[in-house]
Amino acid sequence: MTRIREEIKKIIRGALPYNFDGEVLVSVPDVTEHGDYSTNVAFALAKIQKTSPREAAEEMVAKIKEQGLRMKENVFSRIEGAGGGFINFWISDEALFGKLGEMLWKPEGWGRSNTGKGKKIRVEYFQPNVAKIPHVGHMRSAVIGDALKRIFLSQGHKVVSDTHIGDWGTQFGILLYAWKEASKEDQEKIKKNPVRGLNDLYVAEGKKIEAEPERRERGKEEFAKLEQGDKENRKIWKWMVTVSLVEFDEIKRRFGLLRFEEERAESVYEDAMPPLVERALKKGVAARKPLDSAQGVTGAVVVDLSDVGLGEAVLLKSDGASTYLLRDLATLEYWDKKKLDKNLYVVDIRQSHHFSQVFDVGKRLGIPLASRSEHIVFGFMSLPEGAMSTRKGNVIGLLDVLDTMEARAREIIEKKNPELKNKEKVAKAVGVGALKYFDLSHHPKSNIMFDKEKALSFEGNTGPYLQYTYARLRSILRKIQDTRHKKQTSPKFDECERGLLVEMLRFPEAVEDAAKVYAPSVLANYLYGLAQKANEFYHSHPVLKEGDAEKRRFRLMLVEAVAATLKNGLYLLGIEAVEEM
Ligand code: ARG
Repeated sequence: MTRIREEIKKIIRGALPYNFDGEVLVSVPDVTEHGDYSTNVAFALAKIQKTSPREAAEEMVAKIKEQGLRMKENVFSRIEGAGGGFINFWISDEALFGKLGEMLWKPEGWGRSNTGKGKKIRVEYFQPNVAKIPHVGHMRSAVIGDALKRIFLSQGHKVVSDTHIGDWGTQFGILLYAWKEASKEDQEKIKKNPVRGLNDLYVAEGKKIEAEPERRERGKEEFAKLEQGDKENRKIWKWMVTVSLVEFDEIKRRFGLLRFEEERAESVYEDAMPPLVERALKKGVAARKPLDSAQGVTGAVVVDLSDVGLGEAVLLKSDGASTYLLRDLATLEYWDKKKLDKNLYVVDIRQSHHFSQVFDVGKRLGIPLASRSEHIVFGFMSLPEGAMSTRKGNVIGLLDVLDTMEARAREIIEKKNPELKNKEKVAKAVGVGALKYFDLSHHPKSNIMFDKEKALSFEGNTGPYLQYTYARLRSILRKIQDTRHKKQTSPKFDECERGLLVEMLRFPEAVEDAAKVYAPSVLANYLYGLAQKANEFYHSHPVLKEGDAEKRRFRLMLVEAVAATLKNGLYLLGIEAVEEM
């Protein structure tokens, strides 16, 4: 089904002079008095035609009306120039009703499109680190990345998701050293809860290094041994990786993330790194710093990016160890061969400088994918429980956060609806849904302060509010036998019904916009607006009790369509729509 906005654009383009090559923007006016859609195209047109925007708009309106007649289309009930150059469109009730019928014919496909057909996107998110407890930043990345993947898929894109697990780097040398230094009893203790144990061991080693900087050198040596393939170090490291992956899988499952197509951890690029450094040196992109005998055996290999204000990018440290940056360059090179149209990294704002360096060095190395890569930045989410930094210790685990959310959801549901069947299942869906929605309803770039009670509230812009609205609509539909709608002519709608219908039909546009700007919040906020309109309708319009059969049938259609829209929309955010709650 074509989107209304697209149809309007087509009609506008048909009425524009052939030499007009500007963009046609169609938007939703702020107030309903200005129509269902509006365009400012007359402002650009006036410049070309050297007339006033008002005149250009009027001329356009006349042309559209003429063509509208010729095309025998009854899409609009009103088209008007207003505000000195805007052209406003009101969709006719017949056209709206026709769209409703079309939508109900295949509600599963509602919101999907094929605008992304033939395009392949890699989305990298979650990116936890081995032997470290994933923090809220990893959660935001996972939640936003998973929603983006769902949204891209719905637009027909091919999507490859990748986790880029952090399992390589000097920190593993430090950890190896600390592990070997630990007593047998301490090791046994760590083995009981390995990720937490290793996390704390690393934190404790950090403190020891502060007091005794020599220890860092021992750690570096252990990493050098690991990079050179030392058997014992490899074995311990492998174990650390294995136990961490178990925990990461549990997080993925509990958060309901879509399956990752690829799970290429940093260490898989091991062999690709040395030739890449060679190339960078040969090409003159990188240079070896003068040997610093006090620091180690060899000079660091760096790329001077000061000409673009990005400082110095280090590929190899002075002790010869590979860097996080080098691993990202090897990653870029690997994916460059996979014919991607876009390569997106969902990573917090602190790594902006890092990614600017990666993309810039990538371009200098002649890796084409570098110019099709983007860092999708997100801000901080603070959990009021306290600091989240791994180094400070006391990290709150993501599963602990989730447990807390589910437990509270269970309490709320118990109070609100003690009779509910499947209470456990619903509490889980509401708990994780509330957490995800709290994140997704904010623009990724914003810094947010997490508030559990607010997130779980049944009122306001929250996950439970959307889920509850859906469940409420479904409860109406459960009470009727016949959901197949008899053919009927367009009934008269009142203001509220019409408003809900128009809003519902904008769903595919909201999904498209969310995909375009990489912000699931666009979709989330659309859904909130739709749910508000649905609740207004629910409170003022009887459906099952409506005496007029035609009206009742129309309202049922509307309820079914809005419910399907909420369900599809929530799915795209990675949130389950529960039938009852
Ligand atoms: N594992 C890293 C961290 O926790 C994030 C990885 C981001 N992705 C990348 N390709 N560098 O900070």
